[in-house]
Amino acid sequence: MDGNGRWAQSRGLPRIKGHEQGSQAVGECVEGCLESGVEFLTLYAFSSENWKRPAAEIQGLMLLLERFLEQKTRQMIDKGIRLRAIGRLDELPAPCRDRLERSIAATAAGSRLTLTLALSYSGRAEIVDAVRAIVREARATPALTEDQITPELIGAHLYTHDLPDPDLLIRTSGELRLSNFLLWQLSYTEIHVTPKFWPDFTRADLADALADYARRHRRFGGV
Ligand code: FPP
Repeated sequence: MDGNGRWAQSRGLPRIKGHEQGSQAVGECVEGCLESGVEFLTLYAFSSENWKRPAAEIQGLMLLLERFLEQKTRQMIDKGIRLRAIGRLDELPAPCRDRLERSIAATAAGSRLTLTLALSYSGRAEIVDAVRAIVREARATPALTEDQITPELIGAHLYTHDLPDPDLLIRTSGELRLSNFLLWQLSYTEIHVTPKFWPDFTRADLADALADYARRHRRFGGV
């Protein structure tokens, strides 16, 4: 959800105003997914690298997240949205984590859209955590052999073990890099880049991205 800071700066506003507007755009994008029949939406809300930002901005973002969950959990239940989170969630402040856990539990029965928030997330850290979990299991199960280390085994130990690999990555604010997002899972994902800052991203932009995706010919390395 890139471009919140630039959206605010271009209006002479503090960066947190961009994040506030960005959380409104989350609602818009979720509605667009429900309308279009998208079943999985994963939002990169806070990266491991974002901890390097000024303390006031981090605090503001965590409060925004709590507020968002407080205000939207009822609607998520009513609309059939199942909330999940990926990342090193133990690094989040306790009130934020508690709120998140409550919203995840409350929405567990949702079956229309799985909304995953990537929080304190890093694609490399996710792979490191998966390898650590496999090594722990290998110690407990010495029968695990080298040739049992497969892409499926690694995938089963990622935070996203119960999610399909993304079909489409939407990158806002014209950025042309992956920024440590879902490094394993994006291997064959189609990429759509829009110059719009995230707070300006509307369901019409989502529809454009989906139409762009529909024109792609996916070959997964084949012919
Ligand atoms: C990146 O833009 C955005 C973030 C680091 C935070 C995204 C968070 C929200 C939209 C709100 C909270 C989340 C939810 C799910 C309600 P940037 O700050 O790097 O912008 P810039 O590149 O223009 O500086």
